[in-house]
Amino acid sequence: MTESKTVTESPSDPFNVDFWHKRWEENRIGFHKSEINPHLLRQIEKMTGQSLTAEPIRDSAQFLENSKKTWFVPLCGKTMDIPYLLSQGFRVFGLEASTLAIEALDEEHSLSLIYNDETKLFTGADGRLQIYTGDFFTCPIEKFGPFDYVWDRGSFIAVEYSFRKNYIEVMQRALRNPDGSWYSFKYLMDSVQYDKSKFGGPPRSVDDEDMEQFFKPWCSIQRVESEVIPEDDRVAKAACGKALCHIYLLTPL
Ligand SMILES: C[S@@+](CC[C@H](N)C(=O)[O-])C[C@H]1O[C@@H](n2cnc3c(N)ncnc32)[C@H](O)[C@@H]1O
Repeated sequence: MTESKTVTESPSDPFNVDFWHKRWEENRIGFHKSEINPHLLRQIEKMTGQSLTAEPIRDSAQFLENSKKTWFVPLCGKTMDIPYLLSQGFRVFGLEASTLAIEALDEEHSLSLIYNDETKLFTGADGRLQIYTGDFFTCPIEKFGPFDYVWDRGSFIAVEYSFRKNYIEVMQRALRNPDGSWYSFKYLMDSVQYDKSKFGGPPRSVDDEDMEQFFKPWCSIQRVESEVIPEDDRVAKAACGKALCHIYLLTPL
């Protein structure tokens, strides 16, 4: 049985956040990578216009300039990409349902996060990192945006197919100016593609039709990377050996 079939919707948990709480409690976090995401590293120049490396930025003027820009990292888990983006000077706004994940991120990277129960925000010592803890689908995201950059890794592809419309609605609220026009954002998305009849996910497949339906109406779409996922990978195996990884760069129309 695929994981998605084991999940049932309940009125008190319409977006199945409990499924993810359970995974963190049981430490079933195979999605977590103990390295900076190589796609992010490869695409950071296209995103920011700067030839940044994996090393912390040395140019203090550029660090200061970058601290005026915010990356939105939805469904962030305890990704290493957060400390990486901070090391380049950027502000980061993360969103994660599991406090276990946020506490692990804090501990593993000595971030000294302070939690405010009223705002549901964990904030780092110098204020450049904020992580909202709660359900993505009910977060008042427009209060925190609009964001300059989005790093969507294991996020759109983590949500169930039936929630995709809701997901896009939240992302759009995150990327609009108060007058409703699009903010000048750059949105980098990591995705997988496989035969949906073979595997229910997560991660869930994104094909050209999905990109047309969910992103084309409001984004200009550029596929910047594509690679075959090795046959022995968990997802490729579940999808009978055939799966692709695509990286998209999305900008406002
Ligand atoms: C596949 S993991 C990806 C984590 C991270 N982006 C990474 O690259 O390691 C999905 C994450 O989203 C969180 N999550 C799932 N549904 C959520 C929701 N509705 N609201 C907030 N967080 C959610 C889970 O707890 C989990 O940490």
